[in-house]
Amino acid sequence: MNGLIIKYNELTAEQFILLWESVWGKGPSPEQTELAMKNTLFRLSVWDNDRIVGMARMIGDMGLCYYIKDVVVIPEYQHKDVGKMMINELLKFINDNGVSGTDIFVELCAMPDKIGFYEKFGFSSNEAQRLRIMYRVE
Ligand SMILES: CC(C)(COP(=O)(O)OP(=O)(O)OC[C@H]1O[C@@H](n2cnc3c(N)ncnc32)[C@H](O)[C@@H]1OP(=O)(O)O)[C@@H](O)C(=O)NCCC(=O)NCCS
Repeated sequence: MNGLIIKYNELTAEQFILLWESVWGKGPSPEQTELAMKNTLFRLSVWDNDRIVGMARMIGDMGLCYYIKDVVVIPEYQHKDVGKMMINELLKFINDNGVSGTDIFVELCAMPDKIGFYEKFGFSSNEAQRLRIMYRVE
């Protein structure tokens, strides 16, 4: 498996922000990210020796709904199957934890140029639109 190591539930807020900023620009605040890491169902990080090269996480209620968030591979490790490795791990987590014999919605949000990546795992889009608001916490 390409010499890389997967770590489970060890991803820290600092590592999350580092990877976020490798692809998306300025990351979220450490305080928000620490809370998010604490309340994430399942966190993955992928390492090449002591260098973190990928992350992904799963949120949800375990019974009816799982939501894949923040799938990131740092640019120089993209197109080397790291993303595939992480999605397969996330799907295995559902298989290990969901109610046996049931069908469960697994959702995510993808930019148009990333849809082909997720289609490889069986994801497809429907006519629903993503609605969102940047809500101010007083
Ligand atoms: C999208 C991303 C996670 C893919 O990870 P990756 O490690 O580069 O992808 P892999 O090498 O594991 O590719 C797995 C398969 O998907 C294909 N693939 C990868 N990126 C693709 C894309 N953007 N569109 C279509 N297919 C894609 C690969 O060709 C490969 O196909 P194969 O199995 O038939 O050979 C990575 O490019 C990334 O982190 N991008 C920046 C952050 C981002 O946008 N994340 C997604 C948030 S929705």
